[in-house]
Amino acid sequence: MSPPPALALAPPLLAWFAQAGRHDLPWKQPATPYRVWLSEIMLQQTQVQTVLPYFERFLETFPTLEALAAAPLDAVLSLWSGLGYYARARNLHRCAQTLVRDHGGVFPEDPEILVTLPGIGQSTANAIAAQAFNRRAPILDGNVKRVLSRYFAVDGWPGTRAVTETLWAYADAETPGHAPAAYTQAIMDLGALICRRKAHCARCPVQAGCASFRTGTVDQRPAPRPKRERPLKRRFFLFVFDADGALWLAPRPPEGIWGGLLGVPELETLPELGSVLETLGPPSSLSPAQPLPPFEHGFTHFRLEITPVHVHLTGRPKVEAFYAPATWETLPLPAPLKRHLRTLTTARSQSHVENGVLPLFPKGTGRA
Ligand code: ADE
Repeated sequence: MSPPPALALAPPLLAWFAQAGRHDLPWKQPATPYRVWLSEIMLQQTQVQTVLPYFERFLETFPTLEALAAAPLDAVLSLWSGLGYYARARNLHRCAQTLVRDHGGVFPEDPEILVTLPGIGQSTANAIAAQAFNRRAPILDGNVKRVLSRYFAVDGWPGTRAVTETLWAYADAETPGHAPAAYTQAIMDLGALICRRKAHCARCPVQAGCASFRTGTVDQRPAPRPKRERPLKRRFFLFVFDADGALWLAPRPPEGIWGGLLGVPELETLPELGSVLETLGPPSSLSPAQPLPPFEHGFTHFRLEITPVHVHLTGRPKVEAFYAPATWETLPLPAPLKRHLRTLTTARSQSHVENGVLPLFPKGTGRA
């Protein structure tokens, strides 16, 4: 049998990691399977700095897998509010329940079993196995794709199957049997600290072997996603306040964007307003609708232009689902809704409130 090929990355990377890596990440202290799993799900598509406060709050509220599994989905979504990609939170909750029900509340060590659980893809399964159980399991997240595509000069957009397969092959070949947990963190740290989009090659511990550095092509890899226009959708978001300033909210359908969160009615055209408001009471009980300046929210596949429309009820609404301003911060709401409500609360606390009604144009805000 021929010996395995020598590892190019692990030796210099591990030496660099020992003195320059991030050793203070909270999910490493201690790196229990529950903490590693939670952090890996939060870190999918999200920066470490953003994740840190969410991670702490989650662990305070749900210190164990059992506590998370037993919590209502709403409580989980509420804590997730602002992190985005809410399918992650729903899968996290389902995964906790599956682990408690089918696995005695114990995380499997085998990545091939981990990958069958809700919300856990191959790279996340391997990241958990490597970091929580020190198993040799290659990972291929965004950071690692960037490092490997540069180091081995892999061309083409990593979103395609062929490029992904090539990168997986390199990831597998380079992951050492010795200290896989440290190596996994090290290659992620290299991507996050040195081999960033704008690379710091002068400080790179693997510069000597990097094919892109040698040919002056670091900036060209990884190849970007082929350009396509994201269409713009325009919607009116209807904010209906009762006489006490409480806001009308309803659960959104479980599927689709912001599935399972609370939301306000969305209209394609303003004339639809009438039929929505009919469900609340006679038209005489309404102040005129006030469209506010629009603002944009970006999704992967489209951009959403939101025009907030405020309506104030003077009579008693028929439905009960009105939420007082004091509750808004803790509700499971989509990020742009929460942002809009924050500007209202801030403006209200800084300005005169007439009849307990929120001001229509918050002071000092160019946009909502
Ligand atoms: N991204 C995904 N997993 C990570 C980790 N363990 N540390 C830092 N960034 C990450």
